[in-house]
Amino acid sequence: MNAVTPLKNYKSDGRYLGLYEESISNPKGFWSRQSEMIDWHKPFETVLDDSRPPFASWFVGGETNLCFNAVDRHLKDQADKPALIFVSTETNQEKTYTFAQLHQEVQAAAGILQDLGVKKGDRVLIYMPMIPEAAFAMLACARIGAIHSVVFGGFASHSLASRIDDARPTVIVSADAGSRGGKVVPYKPLLDAAIDLANYKPAKVLMVNRGLVEFDKVQGRDVDYAAAREQVGNREVPVVWLKATDTSYILYTSGTTGKPKGVQRDVGGYAVALAASMQHIFMAEKGGTFFATSDIGWVVGHSYIVYGPLIAGMATVMYEGLPIRPDAGIWWKIVQDYNVSVMFSAPTAVRVLKKQDPAFLKKYDLSKLKALFLAGEPLDETTADWISGELGKPVVDNYWQTETGWPILAIQRGIEPMSGKLGSPGIPVFGFNVNVLNEETALPCKANEKGVVAIEGPLPPGCMQTVWGDDERFVKTYWSAFSARQVYSTFDWGIRDEDNYFFILGRTDDVINVAGHRLGTREIEESISSHPAVAEVAVVGKADQLKGQVAVAFAILKGGNAEGAEAASLEKEIMAVVDSQLGAVARPSRVYFVTLLPKTRSGKLLRRSIQAVCEGRDAGDMTTIEDPAALEQIRVVVAQ
Ligand code: PRX
Repeated sequence: MNAVTPLKNYKSDGRYLGLYEESISNPKGFWSRQSEMIDWHKPFETVLDDSRPPFASWFVGGETNLCFNAVDRHLKDQADKPALIFVSTETNQEKTYTFAQLHQEVQAAAGILQDLGVKKGDRVLIYMPMIPEAAFAMLACARIGAIHSVVFGGFASHSLASRIDDARPTVIVSADAGSRGGKVVPYKPLLDAAIDLANYKPAKVLMVNRGLVEFDKVQGRDVDYAAAREQVGNREVPVVWLKATDTSYILYTSGTTGKPKGVQRDVGGYAVALAASMQHIFMAEKGGTFFATSDIGWVVGHSYIVYGPLIAGMATVMYEGLPIRPDAGIWWKIVQDYNVSVMFSAPTAVRVLKKQDPAFLKKYDLSKLKALFLAGEPLDETTADWISGELGKPVVDNYWQTETGWPILAIQRGIEPMSGKLGSPGIPVFGFNVNVLNEETALPCKANEKGVVAIEGPLPPGCMQTVWGDDERFVKTYWSAFSARQVYSTFDWGIRDEDNYFFILGRTDDVINVAGHRLGTREIEESISSHPAVAEVAVVGKADQLKGQVAVAFAILKGGNAEGAEAASLEKEIMAVVDSQLGAVARPSRVYFVTLLPKTRSGKLLRRSIQAVCEGRDAGDMTTIEDPAALEQIRVVVAQ
């Protein structure tokens, strides 16, 4: 165990410091106590097995079930209390499922999956809009020990195909369509195209038909959810007790390479970590309502739409719609109508609201709301200041990753009253021995000195176990960034000040963050390269006032440079390729055409320099550049 992160200057009434220090110096004792927050079928024998670093197994020998903890255990005292609140301003539906009703629907979904041949350990890929059946399907998988892999509905056929090939699902659950801003977004054609593209073919596709759009049905493969639901009736499907260390789900995320990584999570550690985070960070109260505005396709949706709130015995809101439709008061109306006590969103969404009439924030009764949590991208001071002023509630920035599953840095108001600092996502969360390290030496940086945010192993419960099917990639990607020693790299630059507040300064790798959506520039480059006219391309993230970052592309064409109308039409074509392969979230805001790309003499793309030039900053050390004219071209096209 490495030295405890010093916290000398932090002003605390002692409760946070006590809890934090115990979590680092005596993780086994600490997590053993936290584990009492969930129900166990069989107690664990070993709190932590870290005999094979950097792998960590939590609660070894124990048996439990995520679905049991999220649903069944609340039946004794909350059967008739709201569990899942579905609001769609796209289809004008509102429906509340009590814990008893959720129990029924989840059992039915589990029964359907079993009838389709799904067994413990099989994968089920979920490609769905924000509808209750998506949550039923996730919980149903958890119930019977199937491993779900939810793919964000905004991703298109290529993204989906690579995930199908990697996860090899027995069944895919999908729907005819989603809806965005009143416009129907068909899912089925993309799914069919993805299955065509993939080498692996799922046996069955379970289709929820919302009646939004006609779709082709594949005989013998496609199954109608409503018909199957009727057939299952009210069959009881018992919980399958799982080892704490069994896999609960895979969630793909972007990295430096074009191939997304399957972040693999366990059962017991995840349940305990979520329960602890709900209490100590999110101030959970049984019977309260949690409203996370994310999508189930992202990690926030997994942890804080589906599992976290339900494990804590709270109702959870699942909202399909935009934050500004029918008007910019819709979120606050939901807060009022459903007594939302804790809300979780992303800075981009708040920046969107900031452009609207602030009167909407005063129109509804927000008295039950305790705090608004924001995560996923840097929260700028202006936005933080504005929203906390308008709401008159604490706004709590928190920093984490798909890989960790729950916050690494946060102000932990569930432990003690704490003040935050504008621009900082807070102080280390219990369980995370997090520090800012020098890139070369892996030694802690001095206060206010820039370094890489890194976490000493073993990672606490709830964090990724490995990369699905690729232990070596897990070690190589996350634990080998510092040559000096084995430590987990977040791939974020950061500093910590003398009071131990951290500040996040952007990624060290080629990952960009567009409106809170994490994307790999490599994936976008690969997609653009598939256009027949493109010889070579570089994609970088450029700072954007609203979205945080947007992707911009610089392409070299095979047949010489394009200008004027020809360039404009090619730019459109390239954007359409990205739309159809990856989805509109990944579409670059601009595609510029150049004849040279800035590279080092060894041929490595100088993405950071391109990015600096796009943002009007100094390009940095140019001693390794092969041809300075390349950067000059970028400067010229961007200025046009
Ligand atoms: O760069 C950091 C940024 O988002 C990355 C993780 O994205 P994702 O895997 O999608 O997980 C989001 C979970 C909330 C991080 O490596 N990031 C996340 N939260 C913050 C942040 N950057 C600054 N401030 C934050 N609060």
